[in-house]
Amino acid sequence: MFTIDLSGKKGIIFGVANHRSIAWVIAQILDQAGMRLAISYQNERLGENVFKLAPTLKQPALLVQCDVLDENQVKAAYEKVGAEFGDLSVMVHSVAFANKDDLAGDFAMTGQEGFRVALEVSAYSLLPLTRHAAPLMKNGGSILAMTFQASTRVFPGYNIMGTAKAALEHEVRQLAYELGPKNIRVNAISAGPLDTLAARGIHGFVDMKKVHAERSPLQRNITHQEVATTALYLASDLSSGVTGAIIPVDSGYNIVGL
Ligand SMILES: NC(=O)c1ccc[n+]([C@@H]2O[C@H](COP(=O)([O-])OP(=O)(O)OC[C@H]3O[C@@H](n4cnc5c(N)ncnc54)[C@H](O)[C@@H]3O)[C@@H](O)[C@H]2O)c1
Repeated sequence: MFTIDLSGKKGIIFGVANHRSIAWVIAQILDQAGMRLAISYQNERLGENVFKLAPTLKQPALLVQCDVLDENQVKAAYEKVGAEFGDLSVMVHSVAFANKDDLAGDFAMTGQEGFRVALEVSAYSLLPLTRHAAPLMKNGGSILAMTFQASTRVFPGYNIMGTAKAALEHEVRQLAYELGPKNIRVNAISAGPLDTLAARGIHGFVDMKKVHAERSPLQRNITHQEVATTALYLASDLSSGVTGAIIPVDSGYNIVGL
């Protein structure tokens, strides 16, 4: 049995809204592996959930409120992490948002404001979260983002979020190139559909899950745990030669033509 020991390492995770959040299962698995964590939540309301979840971790987590669109809040969050941890090995970006109206209906009707919001929250935010993380990654590090196959294929209803994921995946490659010399790796997991708060906003999400289970080679949906174990691999030295990659965790759905 191979165990992954991340004790002595520190990480920050953005995007815990509740116990179903992908960010939360990643937090749990990194905590179990011994990593000291900072957990960031968007606002006071979601903070209430995080304050209840955090004590269930093995080690005390540093809890930080941060709206990723506010550069001052991002800076303050990392200052807190720097003061408490001294350095950082891992940053997880598990953040996305689009207006509900833009996740259904005609894509051509997406307005300028809806486009801006979706792209800023879901794609742009990786840049400030990375630029403030990198100086703390003094001995190299691993940055991880969450994406979906709608970046390259059409999923009805996914609309503007597909555009955002395409931008996000490009950022992963561009940042991997830029930060490689500092031994900071940047990768993304392209997850199959999972029941979460964000997923519930997507029109046709239930059908998407059903079709994945029917047509994927493994003939089932993935689990939160399967995304978390891949995140653990990417956070650890087991993946030391991997950067700029988009790793599908989708029961193999992405290879199927018909
Ligand atoms: N659930 C799925 O089927 C699925 C599949 C593939 C990829 N993903 C991606 O996984 C990531 C996590 O989503 P999830 O499914 O766990 O849902 P979720 O709703 O639990 O997580 C989304 C998070 O984004 C945060 N967020 C939104 N706007 C923010 C802002 N301005 N500042 C700070 N945080 C903000 C929310 O607070 C929430 O914690 C997203 O990038 C999503 O696109 C999800």
